[in-house]
Amino acid sequence: MPQNSWLTATKPLVIGHRGASGDAPENTLKAFRLARDQGADGIEYDVHLAQDGVPVIIHDVMLERTTNGVGHVSHFTSAELAKLDAGEGEGVPTLDAVLAELGDGFLHNIEIKGGSADPEALVDAVAACVERHNCGANVVISSFEEAILQAATKFAPPVAQAALLDPEAPNIPSFFAGTAVHPYFAVVNAAFMSWATERAYRVHVWTIDDPQAAQRLAALGVSAFITNYPARIRDALQA
Ligand code: G3P
Ligand code: MG
Repeated sequence: MPQNSWLTATKPLVIGHRGASGDAPENTLKAFRLARDQGADGIEYDVHLAQDGVPVIIHDVMLERTTNGVGHVSHFTSAELAKLDAGEGEGVPTLDAVLAELGDGFLHNIEIKGGSADPEALVDAVAACVERHNCGANVVISSFEEAILQAATKFAPPVAQAALLDPEAPNIPSFFAGTAVHPYFAVVNAAFMSWATERAYRVHVWTIDDPQAAQRLAALGVSAFITNYPARIRDALQA
């Protein structure tokens, strides 16, 4: 069985949060390319379903915060979303476009967002896209949403599954059989790492931009660092 690169990595991974979103508009191809250029091992990004059933990369259910559009993401087709300005002239990309350009030899944390689409439809559309690009060995699927994690149990290896832990209400559903947990970095300490190690979970922290904190967590055994500043955290972990 092909192995997942997230789970076999022997050095800490640096992952651009919404791309290199400290230096480029979040969740755009520009931010994803910049993360790669800054030496990141991969990228994290957020997925919703457009009106035409195509997975698109945007954080919120609404367009206003990050684009010049107005209204619900799910009320627009992927072609309409691509024409919006998500910052510096970048459109809202499709998952297909991201995997077509960056699916080979780059790691992807596809965070599936709840709040609008039917979980099954959303997960099926993401799964079809990952399958089409034959990049499952580089993909971790994560979500805060129990219904999404439930639907995501259909992902088979080499795709990996992770539970995102809300710092206010950390919860891992009883059905969860994934191999990683994604906690907020500030909740991770030696006791957390012992808990995760006992359950054989890899620990991928978000969103960590402080070099000293990254060095401390690397020493505790954290496997991946999801950051807005990949170059900064790469430098800290190599120091
Ligand atoms: O996936 C890690 C992190 O992105 C989760 O929170 O709100 O930035 O998507 P958020
Ligand atoms: Mg996210």
